[in-house]
Order: sequence, then C-alpha cells, then structure tokens
Amino acid sequence: MTAIQKIKGTNDILPDGFGEEIFRSSLWRFAEQTMTDLALRYGYAEIRTPIFESAELFIHSVGEETDIVRKEMFRFTDRGERDLVLRPEGTAGVVRAWIENKLGAHDPVSRLFYHGQMFRAERPQKGRYRQFHQFGVECIGGADARHDVEVIMLFWDLLQTLGVKRIRLEINSVGCAHCRPQYREALKAHFASSLDGLCADCRERYDKNILRMLDCKNPACQEILCTAPAMTASLCAVCAAAWQELQARLTALHLPWTANPRLVRGLDYYTRTAFEIVHDSIGAQATIAGGGRYDGLIGASGGADTPAVGGALGIERLLLAMQSESRTPPAAPVPEYCFILLDENCESQLEEALYALRARGVFAMHAEGSKQIAKQMRAASRLGARYAVFIGGDEWQAGDVLIKDMQSGAQKAYPVPPCGLAAFLLEHFFGETMRRIERGL
Ligand code: HAM
Repeated sequence: MTAIQKIKGTNDILPDGFGEEIFRSSLWRFAEQTMTDLALRYGYAEIRTPIFESAELFIHSVGEETDIVRKEMFRFTDRGERDLVLRPEGTAGVVRAWIENKLGAHDPVSRLFYHGQMFRAERPQKGRYRQFHQFGVECIGGADARHDVEVIMLFWDLLQTLGVKRIRLEINSVGCAHCRPQYREALKAHFASSLDGLCADCRERYDKNILRMLDCKNPACQEILCTAPAMTASLCAVCAAAWQELQARLTALHLPWTANPRLVRGLDYYTRTAFEIVHDSIGAQATIAGGGRYDGLIGASGGADTPAVGGALGIERLLLAMQSESRTPPAAPVPEYCFILLDENCESQLEEALYALRARGVFAMHAEGSKQIAKQMRAASRLGARYAVFIGGDEWQAGDVLIKDMQSGAQKAYPVPPCGLAAFLLEHFFGETMRRIERGL
C-alpha cells in the first residue's frame, strides 16, 4: 500500500531536525508558552472550547455573506443528522461558552484567552492553511476604548516580546448599527456607476451586504474599491468620540498606528474599532493579528446586551515573522545524564537509576539502540547529553561508576556509595548545578 499523506493545507508539527523550520515543536512550545504567560500577566484566564460546534453558531455570528461562511467552512452532518462545522475562528465559540456557562455572573469584565486549531477551506499558500492555529483573547464586558487598547497592546507586546519588530498597526472604525446604514447608502451611491467593473461576488454583495464588498481580494475589484469613501466620515457622534479616544490613547502609549479607512475585516460581528497588525516581509499573507469590538454579538446570540472586544493572532504567521527576523527559541533542554550500557546483565540497575533520577526531575536518558559502545556514545552526543554514565565493565565490577564529561572529554571513576547509584548521581547533579550557578552559567 502507498503511504497515506497528510491532507493539503495541513501541517505536521515535528521534533527538531525534521521538516520546515516553522513547524518544529520546540518553536511552537516556546511561542505558546510565551503567549500563555503574557495573557495571564494581562489578567486573562484560559478557555478551551470544542473544535466543532453547530453550523448555526458560525453562520449567525460570523455572518452569512462572509467568505468564511459562504466558501470556507468545513461543514458536515454527523450520524445524528446534526449540522456541524469545524470551527473557523474562536470568538463565536467563546461567546457561546460565556453565555452558556454564565461566565459574566461575578465580574463585570471577563478576560479570556485561547489557542488552538481553526479550519478554513482556503486555497493553501505560504501563511495560509486549511488547518491553522490561533492565539486569541476576548475581553467581554469591556465597554470603552481603554479595553480596545488593552487588547491591541497585548498583541503588540507579545510580538515585541518574541522579537518581531517589523510590524505595523492599522486601525479603523466600522461604526455601529446607528451610523452604518448611512455609510451603506454612501457606498451604494459611490459604486452605482462602476458595478460593471466588479466581479459577480461584489455585485451580489452590493445588494446583500455592501460592506463585504470592501473585503474582496480580487485585484481588479480592489482598484475600484479603493476609491470608496471612508467609514470614519459617516460615524455617528458616539462612534466618532470613541474613534478619537482610541487614537488618543494609542498615541499616549507611543503605539505607532495608522488609520486604514478600508479596513473592514472578514467577519460581520464588528462594531466601531477594527484593527490589524501587519508584517512587512512574510509575503502575501501579511496580517499576523486582527480583531476589534463586537458590541452587538452577545445580545444577538441570546445573552444580555454586553459590549466586548477581542482579537486573534495566526501562530503560523507569527512563526514566519520570527523566522524572517531570525528569531530563534531558547535551546531545548538536554539530558543531564545519558546511560551507556556495557553489560546487559546490568540493565535493571540502569533502569532503576534512570527512573529514580526522572522522579526527582533530572533529565536522564538511555542511549539505546545498539550494544556497541561507540554507537551508544554517538547517540548520547546527538542527544546533547552533559554526562555519559557507564553501567557495566571493569570499574562497575569493582564498585565504581565511570562518568564522562561529554564537553571536555574528561572521565572519572567514582565509588558507588551503599545508598546506590541514583542517590550518588543526584548528589553529583546538585553539586554540578551549584558549581554552574556560582560560575553564572
Ligand atoms: P481573523 O482575522 O479571521 O479574525 O483571523 C485572525 C488571524 O488568524 C489572522 O490575522 C491570521 O493571522 C490568522 N489566519 C486566518 N486565516 C488563516 C489561514 N487560513 N491560515 C493561517 N492563518 C490564518 C478572527 O478569526 C477573529 N475571531 C479575531 C477576533 C477575536 N476578533 C475579535 N476577537
């Protein structure tokens, strides 16, 4: 049988030394740990929602006329005839869980973060996959520009912490239910005479949801669409004040923002603030993070009217950005001790010491795979072990254990005390650790 291959647009995240650099598990662990630490430091608590939910949830939240709902959902019917979707984004599920579990019962503001797989049936290319990963935050109950800035700052801070510097912050206001009808009318009037030059999708959106037209990726359409009037010129007084406040707060925090009047985002739930963080050198899929305010979503989803703001970052795109700026994660831990078995009769002593060290939190390995010492030594060196510990042989028979420093090559035989090899190695380990600390290593 020919070996089965992974599905197009999905990726394996592999141990170091295999596959593409951005799909190494050490890098992912480092990025996810950094995100988690940072989100916790901003007061966000972790939430994990199911990877599949009812189709209705996404159609209702993301919007029927969006590309995500029209073309990109992995939708299926299960054995119970339920209409289900592999989640294309995280906000809808978090909002559902927030309402269902009454997460807003105690605090006026719920700060939640998540990371995990998302699924969109897009045409795969660099930075665009069918299964991809997001890190997202939702600040539910956060009513004003202070919360918008908190969310934007969190993503900015994360990128700075990970050494990603060549980024731009773009912001816009997409208004609210009061001022958007006027903007729709302004757009209709503006494009009435140029409809023939637009694609079939755009012409359909002109009638059904004209704001979505601005989101069209077709280059010929973009040339026409870029002449659209700015939404910020049609804002109502309340949205205009919030838009001014957002700009003032970002400026006060020295965040270098630019206003992008055509930033509408690909999801329908946004009100007022929309933002994206774009990287200059990761290719066509340059938006690393995006989000905004969604004050109407919770009320429209069966919850009490609650303002909210959030955002999500694409982890693959983040790692591409780190790669393009030559950022590497700290080196992965290496084994302190690697056991080399010289005599098979001593295997049980080796195993006992191995598990006793691990039980005390010491990284220990057995360089297995061959009876030959040279091969075991090569395996120990590939693992990057600090010390090789020889089990068996003449010294062992004489009651000693031979330990080789893999860096200097120096080796020394130590008498094994009556309390046993593991206890001796633990003492050796703590002695070595103390010496390293004293030398500031
Ligand atoms: P989004 O802009 O659709 O927003 O996705 C956020 C990020 O996910 C994008 O900026 C991008 O980095 C990454 N991304 C999206 N699609 C793909 C793909 N096919 N392959 C690789 N990466 C991708 C949302 O999903 C909103 N839920 C964000 C949000 C949270 N708004 C409020 N709260």
